[in-house]
Amino acid sequence: MNLLILSYLGYIILALIAYLVIAPIPKLLYFKIKYGSAVDIYYFPFIGLIGQIVIDLIFRQDAFYSQKRYAIKNKKLKLHISNDLKGGVHFSLVDPKLKKLVFFDQESYKKMEGMPFADTFIDQGLLFQNGKSWHNSRTMLTKHFTYQDLLAMVETLKQECKKLELKDGPIDILALLKQLTSTTITKAFFGSDNNTISDLGVEVNKNMEKMMLFFLNPLIVLRCFALKLNKTTTPSFLLSSSEKAFLRELQAQKQRITAEIDGGIKKIKENQPLQDNILNTMCKEIVNNNITKEEAIHQYFTLLIAGIDSTSHVVKNFCYALALYPEVQNRLREDIVKSIPQFDGLKPSQLGQLKMLDNFINEAYRHFTAVPSLFNRVALKDVQLGEFTIQKGQSMDLNMMMSHFDPSLYENPLKFDIDRWNSPLLDPYSFTPFSAGPRNCIGQHLATLEMKTLLVYLTQQWQDLIGFSKYVWSNKNRFLSIEKYQQIIMSSNPYFLILHHQYEQALQLLVSDDYETLVTKSLAQYYLGKYEDALLTLDKAIQLSSNRFEAYYRKGLINFISGKIQQAQLDLQKSFELNPKHKETQQQLLKCELELKNTKLIQTAQEKIIQQLKEVPQNVEAQRTDIYSASGKLMYKWYQTDLKVGIEIHHALPNSGDLKYQFEKEKLQLSFPIEKGNNFELDLDLFAEIIPETSKAKVGLNSIEIIMDKKDKTLNWSNLQKKVEEQQQIPVLEQASYPTSSKKKKDWSKIDKEIEEDINKHKEEYGEDPLNSLFKQIYQNGDENTRRAMIKSMQTSGGTVLSTNWDEVKAKDYERKDRPSPPKGQEYKKLG
Ligand code: HEM
Repeated sequence: MNLLILSYLGYIILALIAYLVIAPIPKLLYFKIKYGSAVDIYYFPFIGLIGQIVIDLIFRQDAFYSQKRYAIKNKKLKLHISNDLKGGVHFSLVDPKLKKLVFFDQESYKKMEGMPFADTFIDQGLLFQNGKSWHNSRTMLTKHFTYQDLLAMVETLKQECKKLELKDGPIDILALLKQLTSTTITKAFFGSDNNTISDLGVEVNKNMEKMMLFFLNPLIVLRCFALKLNKTTTPSFLLSSSEKAFLRELQAQKQRITAEIDGGIKKIKENQPLQDNILNTMCKEIVNNNITKEEAIHQYFTLLIAGIDSTSHVVKNFCYALALYPEVQNRLREDIVKSIPQFDGLKPSQLGQLKMLDNFINEAYRHFTAVPSLFNRVALKDVQLGEFTIQKGQSMDLNMMMSHFDPSLYENPLKFDIDRWNSPLLDPYSFTPFSAGPRNCIGQHLATLEMKTLLVYLTQQWQDLIGFSKYVWSNKNRFLSIEKYQQIIMSSNPYFLILHHQYEQALQLLVSDDYETLVTKSLAQYYLGKYEDALLTLDKAIQLSSNRFEAYYRKGLINFISGKIQQAQLDLQKSFELNPKHKETQQQLLKCELELKNTKLIQTAQEKIIQQLKEVPQNVEAQRTDIYSASGKLMYKWYQTDLKVGIEIHHALPNSGDLKYQFEKEKLQLSFPIEKGNNFELDLDLFAEIIPETSKAKVGLNSIEIIMDKKDKTLNWSNLQKKVEEQQQIPVLEQASYPTSSKKKKDWSKIDKEIEEDINKHKEEYGEDPLNSLFKQIYQNGDENTRRAMIKSMQTSGGTVLSTNWDEVKAKDYERKDRPSPPKGQEYKKLG
C-alpha cells in the first residue's frame, strides 16, 4: 500500500517536472509566431532568464552578454520573453514606449514578492512596498531628499573623498566606495557621526551581496521558489547552514538598528532637541502611531542597502571605464581641471556645469549598467501594453541593459563614445538610470552629487592612471588586473578584439562561415588594410544571404574608401533596396553622389582652366606672394540638409582625442595633428548661425565629420562661410590685372566669366556644390599668380593639391616627389 502511495507520489512529481519543463515551450513559440521579430524568446529549463545570466557569466564573463547581443542583432525588438519558474512566461520589456506605460501606471502592477527572507528586514521598506503604504512612506521620506538640502552634503563628501586611502597598487576600490557612501548615508539620514553605524551599513551590504549570490545558484533559486523562503514560515530544519548564518547576521544587525531607533524614541519622549533627519522623522511617526517600529527598521535597512550598494557599484564601474579608455580619462581630466583647478575649491554649483562629466557619466552608465533591469512587476489584472496582452499574475521586468544596446537608439552601441550625449536622446525612456514616473529613485540627487564629487576627486588624484588602470573588480568578487580582464573578455569576443584594435587575433576567432561571422571578419580585414580580402569575404557573405543589406553596405564603404566611387554607389544602392531605413547607407549614398559630382565639377573646371593656361605666356614673373591657402594638404567638403550643415574632411585620425574643436554661434574652429609637429587648422566664419550646444564633431574611419545644427532651418546656405569680403583673416585682393611684361594681355575676367557660365550652366546638374563655390571664390578673388598656382597644383597633382602660393608651387613636382602621401588606407587616383 505504502509502495503504491509512494509510486503515485513519484508520478505526481514527475508530472510536475514534465509540466515545468514542457509547458513554457508552446507558450514561447506562440509569442514568436504571433509577433515575429518584435519578440525574442529564450528557454532554459526551470529557471529561464536566470539560466541565461549564469551561462553568460560562466562562459562570457559578462552576465548580460546574450541580452546585449539580442538587442544589437534585432533592431525591432520590443519584448524579450523567457520561461518563468512556474512553467509560464516572463516578459522583459525592451521597447522604451512599453516601459513608459508601466512607469506611469501604479494601479495595474505591484512590485515582486518572494525575495528570500524579505519579511525579516526589507519588504516593509520603500523599495518593496505597494499601494497606500508605499505612498505614505514615500511622502514621509521625500522631504529629506530635496536637491537644495542635499547640496549642503558636498562639503561632507569632499572631506570623505580626501579620507580615501588611494595607494599605488592593488586597491579594493569597491570597499573604499562602500565605506564612503555608507558614511554619507548615515550622516545625512541618521545623524550619525558614529563609525560603528557607518560600519553597520557596510556589513549589511556584505550580507546582501552574499544573498544575491544565492540567487545565481539555480538550485537555490528553485528551492527558494518552492519553499517561498520566509523567516516566519520556513521551519529551520529546511534551511541550509549558509542561510542560517545569513539570518543570524541579519538578526544582529536588526538589533543594532532597533537600538538606534529606541534611542531616538527616548529623546522624543524626553523632549530633547532633535536633528531634522530621517531617523528622527520615523521615530516621531512611531510615537504618533503612524508607523510601526518594524516598518521603521525596514526603511532603515532599505536606505542602507539602496543608498550604498548602487552608488558604490556605479562609481566602481566608472573607474573601470576610465581605466579601459585612457584617452577619455585624459580628456575628462583636462576639462574638469579647466573649471576646478583645485579640488578643495570645488563649489556645489560647479557640479552642474561640467558637461563633459555628465556625458561621461551617461556613457559609462549606458555601457556598464549597474541596474540592468528594474525589480519584477506583477500584473494585478489583464493589461494591454501596446500590441501585447499581459495576463493577471504574469511577471515582467523593465530591462535597461537591452535598451542601452539598441542600435536604432544608440548608433554603434558597442562604441564607448561620450560625445554621443551632445545630441538629445531619440527616446528619453531608453535611458532611465534612476527609473521614471512616481516610483523613480528617491536618492537620485544624492547619488548624482556623490558620483560627481568622487569623479572630480578621483580623476584629479590619479593623474598617473595607477589607481584606474591597475586593478578592477570582476563579476566574481575578486580583483583582476585590467589586462587580465581585457584578455578574458577579448579572448572570447571578436567584437571586443576589433574594438581594441586587435584585428589579427579577431581573425583567428572568426573562423566559421555564417553570415555574421563573415561580415565581422571583413571588418577586421578592412582595418588591416586588406581591402581585396575583405571584399572577397563580403562576396561570400552575399552568396549565403543575398537578401541582407550589411555585406552590401560594407562593400560600399570599402569601395568608396578605395576610390571606386561608382562601384560603391552600386553596392550602397543594393543595401538601400534591402534596408531603406538604414541611416548609414543613406548617408554614404549621399557622399557617393557628392563625390561623383565633385569629381565631374573639378574635371570640368580643371579642363577649362588648363585650356586657358595653355594660352598664358610662360615668362611671367611672380607679382605677389602667398595670399590664401585653401586647405593645405587636406581638402574638405560640405553639404547641407534642411536641419543640418555637415563638413567632411578626408583624413584618418587614429586617436579621436586629438581632434580639438569649438563651436560658436557663427564660428567653427577645429584642429588636429596631420603629421609630426604639424596641425591641420580650420577656422571658419560660418555663413549663418548654428546651435553650438547640439553641433558635434565625429572621428570616423577615414574621415572627420562635423555636423552643425542650423539655427534657421528655413535658410539654405549658399556657402559654408561668410562672404570672403566679410572675413578678416583672408585678405581680399583687388581684381589683379595681367602683368605688363606680356605683349598679349590675357583677359582673366573673360576666363572667370566662362567658368562662371559653365558652372551656372551645370548648376542644376552639380547642385550647390561646396567645392565649386570655394574654388570659385578663391579663383575670382585671386590675382593671376594665385590662379596659376591653383591651375598648376591641380593639374599636376591629379586634383590632390589645391594651392594658391605660386612661389611654392612653381618649384614643386606634384606628379612625383612632391605628391602628398595619401591618408592611411587610401591611394590617389587620376581624375578622368
Ligand atoms: C547611482 C546610484 C543609484 C542608482 C543607479 C539607483 C537606481 C534606482 C532605480 C533604478 C530604482 C527603481 C527600482 C525599481 O523600481 O525597481 C531606485 C529606487 C530607489 N532608490 Fe535608488 N539608485 C541609486 C542611488 C540611491 C541612493 C543613494 C538612495 C538612498 C539614499 C536610493 C534609494 C532608493 C529607494 C528608496 C528606491 C525605491 C523608491 C520607490 O520605490 O519609491 N537610491 N533606485
